[in-house]
Amino acid sequence: MNLLVGQCVAPVQALRRPAFTFIGRRPSKAITAFLALLLIAASHAQPADPQRTAVAIEALSRLTPEQIKSNPKLEAALKRVIEATRGTPQFVEVVRKFQITNENPALLAIAIQNATNSFGTDAVRAILEAGDAKLLRDSLNSTSTASATRLAEALGNVAEKKVVPLLEPIVADSQRDAQLRKQAVRGLAQNQEGASVLLKLAKEERLAPDIRLLASMELNAVRWPRIKSEAAQLLPLPQARNAQPLPSIAELTGKRGDAARGAEVYSRAEAGCINCHQVNGQGIDFGPKLSEIGAKLGKDALYEAILNPSAGISFGYEAWQLELKNGDEAYGLLVSETADELAIKTQNGIVTRYKKSEVAKRQMMKTSIMPSDLQQTMSLEELIDLVEYLASLKKVG
Ligand code: HEC
Repeated sequence: MNLLVGQCVAPVQALRRPAFTFIGRRPSKAITAFLALLLIAASHAQPADPQRTAVAIEALSRLTPEQIKSNPKLEAALKRVIEATRGTPQFVEVVRKFQITNENPALLAIAIQNATNSFGTDAVRAILEAGDAKLLRDSLNSTSTASATRLAEALGNVAEKKVVPLLEPIVADSQRDAQLRKQAVRGLAQNQEGASVLLKLAKEERLAPDIRLLASMELNAVRWPRIKSEAAQLLPLPQARNAQPLPSIAELTGKRGDAARGAEVYSRAEAGCINCHQVNGQGIDFGPKLSEIGAKLGKDALYEAILNPSAGISFGYEAWQLELKNGDEAYGLLVSETADELAIKTQNGIVTRYKKSEVAKRQMMKTSIMPSDLQQTMSLEELIDLVEYLASLKKVG
């Protein structure tokens, strides 16, 4: 058996060859038996050997939870793989696939430490799928506000309606820590049901004054037209500049602004540019990087990009909407696709993989993910300054 593992360790890729990819058909009994042997042998890595663990995981990914549960040796091998991968993304994947419920506390620790990446959001999803809302609620109510705040962030990044009942009570309770409530506001605004609940809390005047501005910014930036227009009425943005008609792009292009002031406009929370773009590594990696945008686009194209983003959507940055069979939806950039999975990057820069079998419908949108009315968060002079700043972003030297 050692020989078998030894030979398979080097070409782990061998398992990815057509003979071992069973798209749409079940592996034969012989192959299942082989995978089982391989899993048992490879899981006996002592001390933990990453290559053997990789082989074990490959074998596991081709076995079903039923096949594992029907064989005590395979169950023991699964336990060894879980120990060998503890604290890694593979751990989350394996625990989630095989629905190992007693690892929920370990998943929670991962979620809290990785609130802003897919490692953490996948850990939260696994806990939610296991139906352990109580664990999450207890942690949100724990005395450590720092970890409760990070958990609220991870929950928000999951962007599913399941998180609403966990975050809503925090937003509504003005006794809770302000940072925690703010994180919960951001979290609710990331899914449609949460955003409606936030709007409802605003209508019922149950938003404490210290989170109203944040709620207003979040709700005025959502992509659901009804919620957005109600928010504009109910929680208008303080900075919105009302419908003073803009000069033509030709006229704007002829004006000179102040690049330093433009850099400030660019970094303002209401404009949101830094939430979706990076300049020299600063900001969130979501939309195209803008470090050299001044060399790529002239001022006219820069105005166009801000005033009418949907007119020319950059290739590869189209918005996709997935409707999931469980009623949730996902919205973002399609960053990769395999035979059975899609990966979507949401506005916070987090990549989430969805099984195609979980997706009811997918659609490429004609509108850009970049909001079309960002100039309303600034005055005409500030818009001109902002474009001056963007035009100045060129490679140095
Ligand atoms: C919600 C995310 C989001 C926000 C907020 C946002 N953008 Fe964008 N932006 C994008 C995406 C996605 C694209 C690519 C799709 C497209 O071209 O419309 C883009 C494209 C651009 C482009 C064209 C880039 C190119 O390489 O052609 C420019 C310029 C730009 N944005 C500037 C800004 C500025 C300035 C702000 C702030 C006022 C801003 N963006 C706010 C997401 C965003």
